Amino acid sequence: MTQNPQLTMALSKGRIFEETLPLLEQAGIVVTEHPDQSRKLILPTSRDDLRILIVRASDVPTYVQYGAADFGIAGKDVLYEYSKEHPGGLYQPIDLNIARCRLAVAVREGFDYEAAVRQGARLRVATKYVNVAREHFARKGVYVDIIKLYGSMELAPLVGLADAIVDVVSTGGTLRANGLVAVEDVMPVSSRLIVNQAALKTRAAVLQPILDAFEHATPSQG
Ligand code: ATP
Ligand code: PRP
Ligand code: MG
Repeated sequence: MTQNPQLTMALSKGRIFEETLPLLEQAGIVVTEHPDQSRKLILPTSRDDLRILIVRASDVPTYVQYGAADFGIAGKDVLYEYSKEHPGGLYQPIDLNIARCRLAVAVREGFDYEAAVRQGARLRVATKYVNVAREHFARKGVYVDIIKLYGSMELAPLVGLADAIVDVVSTGGTLRANGLVAVEDVMPVSSRLIVNQAALKTRAAVLQPILDAFEHATPSQG
């Protein structure tokens, strides 16, 4: 009979998965199936006591907070947004310094954002990060109507759905390709290890060495 794995990690496929693989390897852990080659949502690893759940990036905090996963990796953009509705639920011990990007306000080229702000205009802002955006504009004293989207935010200003977006920017290539410009930084983003608080107490013996290995494998800042 196969034993139940003692530890479960939640990861999203794509860039976080790819950038986590080398960190896992430095911790002596090899993921034996790749989510691009497999439809399985629970992936085995070279360690019998560790399995990986493949979930949407914005669902990683939920799996970890409710204990369906003991730990996981999520971007600060996702964590900040999540924490506004679920304060204090997650232990976030290590900035892994991977999947680096920033959250920024962007508008159509030619839209005078500064003038609109100066004049106290009410702005329509499309974003998946509604809490982050609301807080950002409240801090600036700018009135906004937030429109929640789930992707392709860059489209919204082009078709008159919004004056501005709050979205992830890395190279700026997506903004350029769509005739948008970043006008304001909201926050720098990288991914953090997040840990279920109960697991940290009840499974410390197996969990802590993995957390330590991640800490040692983390690429340095800069
Ligand atoms: P989904 O595909 O489920 O809608 P997603 O688009 O947020 O989710 P990813 O693109 O894999 O999923 O992004 C995961 C995390 O990686 C984001 O939360 C953010 O922290 C970071 N990220 C997103 N886009 C970039 C980028 N272009 N460059 C670097 N890091 C990024
Ligand atoms: C992300 C994000 C931006 C883009 C920014 O998209 O949603 O659109 O990266 O990166 P850039 O500044 O380097 O162009 P992603 O590649 O994750 O595609 P998605 O729409 O599937 O999320
Ligand atoms: Mg994406």
